[in-house]
Amino acid sequence: MKRFLIISNRLPVQIAISDDNIDVTPSVGGLATGMQSVSKSFKSSWIGWSGVEAQNLSSEQQKKVDNALAKENCIDVNLTEEEVELYYEGFSNKTIWPLFHYFSQFVEYEEDQWQAYKAVNQKFADVIAENMEGVDKIWVHDYHLLLLPQMIKERFPEVTIGFFLHIPFPSYEVFRILPWRNEIINGMLGADLLGFHTFDYERHFMSSVRRLLGYDIQINEISLPRRIVKVDNFPMGIDYDKFHDAAIASQKKSVRDKSEVRKELERYYLLYPETKFILSIDRLDYSKGLINRLEAFEYFLQEYPEYRDKVTLVLLAVPSRVGVEQYQQMKSEVDEIVGRVNGKYSSINRMPIWYFYRSLPFQNLVDLYNYCEIALITPIRDGMNLVAKEFIASKTDGRGVLILSEMAGASKEMSEALIINPNDKAQIAAAIQTAIEMPDEEQIERNTILQKRLKRYNVEKWANDFLNSLEKVKMSEEIYL
Ligand code: UDP
Ligand code: G6P
Repeated sequence: MKRFLIISNRLPVQIAISDDNIDVTPSVGGLATGMQSVSKSFKSSWIGWSGVEAQNLSSEQQKKVDNALAKENCIDVNLTEEEVELYYEGFSNKTIWPLFHYFSQFVEYEEDQWQAYKAVNQKFADVIAENMEGVDKIWVHDYHLLLLPQMIKERFPEVTIGFFLHIPFPSYEVFRILPWRNEIINGMLGADLLGFHTFDYERHFMSSVRRLLGYDIQINEISLPRRIVKVDNFPMGIDYDKFHDAAIASQKKSVRDKSEVRKELERYYLLYPETKFILSIDRLDYSKGLINRLEAFEYFLQEYPEYRDKVTLVLLAVPSRVGVEQYQQMKSEVDEIVGRVNGKYSSINRMPIWYFYRSLPFQNLVDLYNYCEIALITPIRDGMNLVAKEFIASKTDGRGVLILSEMAGASKEMSEALIINPNDKAQIAAAIQTAIEMPDEEQIERNTILQKRLKRYNVEKWANDFLNSLEKVKMSEEIYL
């Protein structure tokens, strides 16, 4: 059986080095959590960055890192401190990320960052070249590596290349702002199949290809001079059973075996049985709409005083891209609003917001999903948002209400949720009230439909659909040639 390669900037595990110890922890983020579930069922190796800056390692430490990664079927792409600064924090997260999420006011246009981006994409191509033995397919992921498909195609024209973008592809009017727009589109067109989460992102991409490069476009095919590129949408799913089964198992645990999070929530509920827990989980990222969410919650407490002693917002903000200024600024803003709301509405025993700035292990996440009655997910823009899907999957008795932004890709598949505009405080506050008051039967009715859909189109199905399409593209290409 042929091997295939998965390529992404961040590996599914992260390495931390302290003295002689190497710590291996799972990465946070939809790409890593989703793909990790499927990579195990394929004969694949995963090439990417371990999170460590290479020049800080002795050769002994590098060997240890490589060994630890090899156990996970991972191969490291070493990044130097300068590459991390210019390629990762720089072009990837100060140019493409804000632009593709429509935050054009944050976009930087720096030639040295662009040069580093090209060089690191080339570095990935070199590591791939060293690991090509027995490989017939390569699946490249996400916005850090938009030039890589073309680089691989030039060196290995016979290999089948798939590319999946985990973030939105913006409308042409936004994409065209980028000085390096043609190089980026050409880079992506090195793939045989390009996948997006939604039809809208696919449509935006097609429109940019037509207007910038003038290629002939059929419904979801682009005719290049010598080959055809297929473009389609594949909404990413989750490992449904993993979340659902873990939630069931957790409920059956004895007091001693329960997670700290679950014990704490249960203890609090015994003291205040009328409490409704509202859950908010995301990386601390401006695209996730944390500020508008907190302001909407504050507005809710102000405008609906009768609920002040009945709600607790559990706010889990996972540290992310802390080297990028906008993320540091946002952290200060979040700290400030949380302080303000808690200062204003706390009583001796109760605080309206429980704020955690850290990541949590899987079991604690599942317990939060399972125990909290309401999830409040309000991104300003989000490619998909898997947290919304994980929350629904963890609702073992069918009860629970999801409030979801219409700007998240997930909203296209989850219309049974309470869909809100993240910029409309009053609408979000009204949705919180509706969620609190929603009868159990209605919650179960909505969630039963959602759960069926999420279970059917899980992450394994998503990956299989993508890979089957990739196979078909290759076959039709052979006929075409
Ligand atoms: N997640 C995690 N640890 C945490 C919080 C979240 O592993 O402490 C995971 C969560 O389970 C989800 C992913 O991070 O699978 C976030 O994916 P999502 O698509 O919601 O957003 P992204 O971070 O990819 O933008
Ligand atoms: C999003 C991106 C991923 C990225 C993740 C975490 O999900 O689509 O590519 O890995 O965020 O961000 P980070 O910068 O920590 O890799």
